[in-house]
Amino acid sequence: MINIDEIVKGRGTAESRWAKFGPYYAMFPIDFAFKVVKKYSKKGDFIIDPFAGRGSSIFAGGVLERHSLGIEINPVGWLYGSTKLNPAEQQLVLDRLDSVYKLRNRYTKSIEKLPEFYRFCYCDEVLKFLLAARKNLKWQTDTVDATLMSIIIVYLHGKLGEGLSNQMRMTKSMGMNYSIEWWKEKGYLFPPEINPLDFIIKKIKWRYKNGTPKIADSSILFGDSSDELEKITQRAKDTKIKFSLLFTSPPYWSITDYYADQWLRLWMLGESAVPKSNAHKHKGRFGSKVEYYKLLDDVFGYCSKIMDADKSTIYVRTDKREYTFNSTLEILKKHFPLHTISIKKQPFKGKTQTQLHGNTSKENGEIDIILTKK
Ligand SMILES: C[S@@+](CC[C@H](N)C(=O)[O-])C[C@H]1O[C@@H](n2cnc3c(N)ncnc32)[C@H](O)[C@@H]1O
Repeated sequence: MINIDEIVKGRGTAESRWAKFGPYYAMFPIDFAFKVVKKYSKKGDFIIDPFAGRGSSIFAGGVLERHSLGIEINPVGWLYGSTKLNPAEQQLVLDRLDSVYKLRNRYTKSIEKLPEFYRFCYCDEVLKFLLAARKNLKWQTDTVDATLMSIIIVYLHGKLGEGLSNQMRMTKSMGMNYSIEWWKEKGYLFPPEINPLDFIIKKIKWRYKNGTPKIADSSILFGDSSDELEKITQRAKDTKIKFSLLFTSPPYWSITDYYADQWLRLWMLGESAVPKSNAHKHKGRFGSKVEYYKLLDDVFGYCSKIMDADKSTIYVRTDKREYTFNSTLEILKKHFPLHTISIKKQPFKGKTQTQLHGNTSKENGEIDIILTKK
């Protein structure tokens, strides 16, 4: 059995190499995900994460031989999570890369029509390749295409030399105008000349160096938990499956906009070339207290129907700020009235979601709400 140290310190296993796959906002530290799964469940148990993000909880569950089920609404998070659970065979991904790369010259004219941002961000060779991948990869339905696309979006932007772009942050796509001004001001006037074929081949070979992870029956659904859980609760009832661990981190009220923060990766996945705010109630910043409360109430309400009433744990990491914390606690108490509650403040370690937004106040930070029933 894989041990946590190997995963966290990267002692050269396939599991450690794939565990951190996908830069995402507000992600669980890998060691934390493994420790929680290990402490609160056992081999063969069922685990659920209705706000799976890049899938760390589900990956840890799968590696540790628990049946693990995630749900994620954001295509970027979903693609990272589902790829790390089931990457396609390396040679098939390399062959697909080669075939997509060969299509790049069809897009010579199209790159001229893109907004100025793209010409500052990518050299022509990269941009033509990105358009060919964007148009031709069927990432929603084909595992080889999904694996290739997810590897491309990991490296879509980042530090100069580490990604395909001009100098940018890796976790978050900055705004178009902001980026252009920044590049001009700091003298990054030309994007790096990169051969995208050689670049992505190297990244694929690095990722597959130790093979692919061994994962027990686990998957992540692409969708809205408040819809998907209705069907899942019905199926769990029919099959008499009871979940032992609910392990999640919901969005924080009014803090992160997972769509705006990933706008450039979402463009690669087919959305608009110009970032637009998403009108869907669960795809924005969660500004409405009423909608936020309702989402958590619905999701934890459904989950309460599939958790083992005699013996289960609900482990929720959330924002310490008043509205998010108080509502989450109230909702959890309502749906799990017979569980015992404990609360653990999380000291600042590395970059938390709230710190990434420039908040360094000791008043804020994250907090774990743990409900147990033995
Ligand atoms: C705090 S993040 C979870 C991060 C995750 N623990 C990780 O390690 O990557 C919350 C996630 O919930 C997702 N989300 C928000 N509303 C959702 C909904 N209605 N259904 C499914 N996922 C949702 C967001 O897209 C975001 O990825």
